[in-house]
Amino acid sequence: MENTRLIVKQSLSLSGTVDVSGAKNAVLVIMASLLLTRGKSVLKNVPASADVSHMIKLLEQLGAQVGFEKDAKIMHVDTSFVDKYKVSPEIMNKMRASVLVMGPLLAHFGQVDLALPGGCIIGARPIDYHLKNFERMGVDVEIKGSFLCASVKKLTPQRLVLEYPSVGATENLLMAATCTIGTTHIVNAALEPEVLDLVDVLKKMGARITIHPPATIEIEGVCSLHPIEHEIVFDRLEAGTLILATAITGGQLTLPNANGYLMETFLSKLDEMGHSVSIGKDGNGIVFRATKSPRAVSFKTSPYPGFPTDLQAQTMANLCLCQGKSLVQETVFENRLLHVRELEKMGAQVSVECNMARVSGVEELYGAEVIATDIRASAALVIAGLAAKGTTIIKGVHHWKRGYEKLEDKLTKLGANIWLEEAGEKGVFEPVVNYEKISQEAESF
Ligand code: EPZ
Repeated sequence: MENTRLIVKQSLSLSGTVDVSGAKNAVLVIMASLLLTRGKSVLKNVPASADVSHMIKLLEQLGAQVGFEKDAKIMHVDTSFVDKYKVSPEIMNKMRASVLVMGPLLAHFGQVDLALPGGCIIGARPIDYHLKNFERMGVDVEIKGSFLCASVKKLTPQRLVLEYPSVGATENLLMAATCTIGTTHIVNAALEPEVLDLVDVLKKMGARITIHPPATIEIEGVCSLHPIEHEIVFDRLEAGTLILATAITGGQLTLPNANGYLMETFLSKLDEMGHSVSIGKDGNGIVFRATKSPRAVSFKTSPYPGFPTDLQAQTMANLCLCQGKSLVQETVFENRLLHVRELEKMGAQVSVECNMARVSGVEELYGAEVIATDIRASAALVIAGLAAKGTTIIKGVHHWKRGYEKLEDKLTKLGANIWLEEAGEKGVFEPVVNYEKISQEAESF
């Protein structure tokens, strides 16, 4: 039973300037990519989220030595003594992204043993695209119950065609191909900013990668890759979450280290709602000013550069208070509308049919006790709670901690009334002041 909860009280006109953390969906795969090298690498702008802690534990389990200066956001990873290729079920079950060590371990050892990553509440999250393309590269994949053993004598270069631009499959196959002698192509690849940050890292390691429009990645395999130093790209999903928290409260926000050119489909929807969005030169910096009477808009999620599925729930929270009706279509995951039920507890009017949500704007939302069902749903409930009259109590805080680095602190700095509470021995909830402990608690979830 989780003994932590988030408390959010109505908070109007959030305003200020915030530095966005490094991207969760870049740092996890880049940490995994270091297994392609042997030696000491340095990563900067690393967010101290629970998922990063899980990936540290995974690398250490394989023999890496990791030092993380959380305040300085600098991580040192020494892979000189990595000598294992088995990932424990405990680690796999804590974080699906653990599957991203598969490519590097196959490239280095020709072997990997791991528990199949479970699905999660937003979908079955299979890895069939990963496996069938690894098999095309000559990998022998054996599934024994919930365990997967994959081995290969020598990876063979292939022209791999993804039936869907899967982020994880692109990243796994890309990492394996960097050390596959010959030319490999990944056709219909995912090209999210986080994938491109991985490409930057692999090129720094000595990989030979070319991207051909519209979405083919060509890799010329090399014999070995060397350690690197890299600053993680900003987290566009945290940036979007901060903007949407500001939007729903009618405030204003400056994000100096966010690149608006990597968020344009999302930002254009905010413009359509009547908000003011200005992007700095070369995309550097975003200044956002909310309108007091936002219009309803419709959108559907799709792979980059389309509208990000990871901002769908947070945007829907805003649409609940917009004048008019909106249609929100989730096309990336098969079950990523569970936040609707929780928003309805707060007075939202939303009906769901298949992967489509019909939102009718209401005058006001009111605080309620709600449950977060995934990382982005937790953010959506916080955003709704900022506008709702009264107090919102959010359970499922481990999701929030997995995806964000103390985002509640950044929101507080902007004027939000939000804090974590923890139940003591007697079950009485008290405000949390010891974040270290709370993060450890989230990790153990
Ligand atoms: C990454 O997940 C992100 N996670 C997700 O962020 C993000 O929502 C997703 O990409 C889409 O952008 C990380 O990078 C750690 P996919 P991933 O493979 O790689 C299906 C967040 O909140 N599929 O692009 O798992 C899959 O079920 C998280 O930060 C297969 O069917 O996403 C899904 O419906 C959530 N077979 C769709 O493709 C496969 O082999 C997209 O999945 C692989 C995927």
